[in-house]
Amino acid sequence: MEYVLEIENVSKFFHGLVAIDDLTIKVKPGQIYGIIGPNGAGKTTLFNCVTGIYTPEEGTIKYKGENITGMEPHKIAGRGILRTFQNIRLFKEMSVAENIMAGYHTKSKQKWYHAIIHTPFYKKDEKKAWEKVEELMKFFGLSKYAMTPTGDLSYGNQRKVEMARALAADPELLILDEPAAGLNENETKELTEIIRSISKMDIGIMMIEHDMEMVMSLTDYITVINFGKEISQGVPSFVQDDPRVIEAYIGSDDDEDEE
Ligand SMILES: Nc1ncnc2c1ncn2[C@@H]1O[C@H](COP(=O)(O)OP(=O)(O)O)[C@@H](O)[C@H]1O
Ligand SMILES: [Mg+2]
Repeated sequence: MEYVLEIENVSKFFHGLVAIDDLTIKVKPGQIYGIIGPNGAGKTTLFNCVTGIYTPEEGTIKYKGENITGMEPHKIAGRGILRTFQNIRLFKEMSVAENIMAGYHTKSKQKWYHAIIHTPFYKKDEKKAWEKVEELMKFFGLSKYAMTPTGDLSYGNQRKVEMARALAADPELLILDEPAAGLNENETKELTEIIRSISKMDIGIMMIEHDMEMVMSLTDYITVINFGKEISQGVPSFVQDDPRVIEAYIGSDDDEDEE
């Protein structure tokens, strides 16, 4: 499999206005792919097309070769495309372990009646689930917060829980919408290392991020979009010096701290 994700000539309109304009993006397994561009460029809309929140009017989206364009979000998640959100979405009253467990059930073959009649499958799967949750808490350094309500954690740790929940579903593509937003310098560094080790598990990662230092040091490849259109694509060193990119950022009144 050469590509885990193929976005081909995708366009998305809102009330006749173009939000995504003929974008083509291909992500390889284990690759860290950055999506950057000024506010309102269409980055989150693109992610919403890939995860099934929106159906693009034009183009196709393939995951591991399968056409998933217009598929329902829970089916896309079940296939193995998992995401985190620009604004963290967790069950704040629930513990860290329970939140991560919820991610496991995105992928699990368990049916509701297994839980009621406690079939052998249910018992075996629950054991597997807890092992997975424990392993992920260890990976993210969250073990000591296992029983803590996620709402009581620092912002940085909540980000980790959100990522652990996505990983619990065994994704082959992880989609991160501004993972470093709201994090301090140390938390950002730590997160950078975490994202790097996730990619080494052969999981493709597509991320939107405003922290340019992080993007340039972490990603393998970048697409820059403005007004929904690709204005540059390439390795970080290329994109960084591309006059079209510099112009787009100077031309916008983008404020890094806005979101
Ligand atoms: N549900 C929606 N309905 C109408 N317009 C939308 C909707 N979602 C996004 N847009 C518009 O699409 C454009 C791209 O927005 P967005 O994808 O959120 O940008 P970014 O994430 O790059 O900041 C913006 O002009 C925004 O107002
Ligand atoms: Mg956005």
